[in-house]
Amino acid sequence: LANKSWAGRQVLVTAGPTWEAWDPVRGLSNRASGRQGYALAQAAAERGAQVTLVSGPTSLPCPRGVRRIAVESARDMLAACENIVQQQRVDLFIANAAVADHRPASSVRDKQGKGEIPNQLALLPNPDIVRSLHESAERPRYLLAFAAETHGDEERAVAKLRAKGADFAVLNDLRSGAMGGSENAAVLYCSERRWELPRSDKLDLARALLHHLDSCLHGKI
Ligand code: C5P
Repeated sequence: LANKSWAGRQVLVTAGPTWEAWDPVRGLSNRASGRQGYALAQAAAERGAQVTLVSGPTSLPCPRGVRRIAVESARDMLAACENIVQQQRVDLFIANAAVADHRPASSVRDKQGKGEIPNQLALLPNPDIVRSLHESAERPRYLLAFAAETHGDEERAVAKLRAKGADFAVLNDLRSGAMGGSENAAVLYCSERRWELPRSDKLDLARALLHHLDSCLHGKI
């Protein structure tokens, strides 16, 4: 029998990369596929939660029973999330998106010809969505943030996520080929406890993550 213990809970998930346009066809992005975030949205819906998925550009189908809001840039993603927390109390915010840290300082409406492309592109930092929601008047009850690392300093990665306001952290080791692949391995930090989740299909991993989070919170999400 499915465990519907999150019935009535509101879960907000960000997923995918963001796309930071420089002209209509060019921009900055990253290799995130959105699969892990979509799997988390599906796993939360399976537990009975009302799930809103704010997704950067991906080619993935929306999981059954999930409301999806498609966005492009980090600023669009932040605006969509702010809109949702203003409309409804969010119990759990799962910040899985690989948000681009920077965007081109200016973007142009017309496609630039080869000769018009500057040698250097000026960049501006993007807002941090976790930090913004943490500081907002409508802070979600719980914030779960992710770190994708290639050099494995766990303590530093967890401290970085806590510093921006996350209650819980999930670390992915990029050396396991998580980004863009169909499998992932992760470590979950919740209330001074640490769970190592072995490499598995991203949906199985998402279910395991939410299971451990729920047990860590004694079902009180
Ligand atoms: O600092 P770093 O980018 O490694 O932090 C990753 C975590 O922060 C992820 O949970 C990601 O979704 C979130 N993040 C965000 N807004 C940004 C950058 C990252 O919400 N601009």
